[in-house]
Amino acid sequence: MPPRPQPVLDYHQGTKHSFEGYAPGPGYLDWASQPNPFRRYAGARLIPLQQVAPVDEPRYDAIFTPGQFPHATPVNLHAISQLFFDSLALSAWKSTGTSRWALRVNASSGNLHPTEAYLVCGPVDGLCERPMIAHYAAKQHALELRAEFAPGRWSELCAGFPPGTCFVGLASIHWREAWKYGQRAYRYCMHDAGHALCALGIAAAGLGWHTRLLDDIGTEELACLLGTSQAHDAEPEEPDMLIACLPTPPESLSGPPPGLLRSFASLDWQGTPNTLSPSHVDWGMAAIAAQVRKPHGPPGYAAFAGAPRPPVPPARRVSLRRIIRQRRSAVAMDAETRMPAGTFYRLLERTLAVPGRVPFSTLPWQPHLHLVLMVHRVDGVPPGLYLLLRNPAQAGALEQALTQADPWRPPPGCPAALPLYGLLERDTRNAARAIACYQDIASDGCFSLAMLAEFTGPLQRHGAWMYPRLFWEAGMLGQLLYLEAEAAGVRSTGIGCYFDDPLHEVLGLAGHAFQDLYHFTVGGPLEDARLSTLPAYG
Ligand SMILES: Cc1cc2nc3c(=O)[nH]c(=O)nc-3n(C[C@H](O)[C@H](O)[C@H](O)COP(=O)(O)O)c2cc1C
Repeated sequence: MPPRPQPVLDYHQGTKHSFEGYAPGPGYLDWASQPNPFRRYAGARLIPLQQVAPVDEPRYDAIFTPGQFPHATPVNLHAISQLFFDSLALSAWKSTGTSRWALRVNASSGNLHPTEAYLVCGPVDGLCERPMIAHYAAKQHALELRAEFAPGRWSELCAGFPPGTCFVGLASIHWREAWKYGQRAYRYCMHDAGHALCALGIAAAGLGWHTRLLDDIGTEELACLLGTSQAHDAEPEEPDMLIACLPTPPESLSGPPPGLLRSFASLDWQGTPNTLSPSHVDWGMAAIAAQVRKPHGPPGYAAFAGAPRPPVPPARRVSLRRIIRQRRSAVAMDAETRMPAGTFYRLLERTLAVPGRVPFSTLPWQPHLHLVLMVHRVDGVPPGLYLLLRNPAQAGALEQALTQADPWRPPPGCPAALPLYGLLERDTRNAARAIACYQDIASDGCFSLAMLAEFTGPLQRHGAWMYPRLFWEAGMLGQLLYLEAEAAGVRSTGIGCYFDDPLHEVLGLAGHAFQDLYHFTVGGPLEDARLSTLPAYG
C-alpha cells in the first residue's frame, strides 16, 4: 500500500495563499536570524575546481537536438569543474550601498538557495585518486571532501552503469526558505530542487552527457550515501534525489541496492557543517519532509515514453554557456515588448517532454504538468487563456475539469503538432497580476503562465512521495523557461507567490484532481539601475 497522502493534501491546502490571507509565515524578516546562504564543512579538505570562461560552442540549440549533441567529454577535473560551473556555481555578485549578495546559475525563491549538492564519483583524473563523496561549495567553486571509500565499493555502486558514470545528489536545507516564507517554504525548496536538477541536466548535456534521476532509491538510503544522516548540531539537510551523469544514453536504470547504500553511513566522514542561523522558528518543515520520504524500491509508475517529435527550429546562434551564466530574473517588465508568434511557439515546443530530449529525459515519469498561459503581448496570438497539454493522456480529464473554458481550439497559425489550445479569448492582464499576489511582472510581460499538475491521482496511485516530485517537474520547467527567454532575447521570472484557488476558479476547476503549482512570467525586462554587478569570482 502506498503511504497515505492525506497529511500531504492537508499541508498543500493549508499553505495556499488566497485573497483573504497568506499562508502562515513570519510576516516580517528577522534579520538577526537570516540564514547563511553557504553551507561549509569545517575541517573537510577543499579541492578547488577550475573556472571555465564561456565560449561559443556548443550552441544553445544543439543540446536539444539529438545527433547534434557534443561527443561525451571524458570525466576529468575539467569536466567536473564545468559541470558545476554551468549548473550551481555563482554567476555574479550584486550590490547596492553596503549590501552585497551572490546570484547563482540556478534560480532560487527569494535567492535563499536551500539546495546543496554532493558529487559521488570514482577516481577522476586530476580531481581525486580514490572514490569519494564531496560537497559542492558554490562560493569557492570547490569540492569539500566528506568521505573516501574503497574502489571495490565504487565498483558495486556503479555496477550496471557505463564506464565514466558519476552521480550528483541534491539535498535541501528547508530552514533557509522557512526563515522568510514560513509553512509554504517546503514547496519553494522543492521548486528550487527542480531548478537545480534542470540546471544539472543542461550543463551535463553541454558535456555530451546524459542525466537520469534514479528513483528507486529510498530517502533514508540516500541520506546514508550523501552523509546527511550523520549526526550534527547544525540545520538539518533532507536528501532529495540522486542523478546519474552518464556518457551514453542508458537502456534502463536501477539504482544501487539498499544494503550497499546504507553501508555508507559507517564511512569515516570528514568535516562539521556550519550553523546557518543563531536562532530558528519551527514552521513544520521536518513534519512535512517526514511525510514525503520515499521507501526504497521501484517507484511503480509507468516509465516515461512517448512519440518522438520533430526537432525544434533553431532560435538564435547563441552560446549555451553564455546563456546559462547570463540567466537572471527580471525584477520588472516593461509592459510593451511584444514576442513574435514563432518565438512563442518554439519556446512552448521546448517545454514538452520528449524521450531523449533534454531536459525532461532526466525524469523517469510521464509528465504531470500542463501550462495554462495568459497571453498578453504575442504578435498574431490573440490575448487570452491557453492550455499547453504536456501529456495527451490527460486531455479528457482536463476537458471535463476546466468547466469555464470555451471549446478548445488551436490559435491561428499554431504549428499543427503543438498541443496548444485556446480556452478563453480576453484580456487577462488584471487577472494575471491579481492572482500573482498583485505583482506587476505577471501582467507587464509578453505572457505569464500557471503550471497545472495532475495532483491527487499520482499521490494516491504511488504515495505521498510523489508530492515533491510534482514540484521538481515544475522547477525544471521554470529553469528551462529562464534559459529559453534568455535565448529569445527577453527575460523571465519564477512566481512562487500566487493565489492558488482563485486561479482554479478562473478555470472552473473544482476538487483537487488538478492543482496549480507554480507561476512564471516572460517578457521585456526593466533593469534596476541602482544595482551594481560584480564578477562571480575573483
Ligand atoms: C521557486 C521560485 C519562486 C519565485 N517567486 C518569485 C516571486 O513570486 N516574485 C519575484 O519577483 N521573483 C520570484 N522568484 C525569483 C527569485 O527572486 C530569483 O530567482 C532570485 O532572487 C535569484 O535571482 P536570479 O534568478 O536573478 O538568480 C522566484 C524564483 C523561484 C525559483
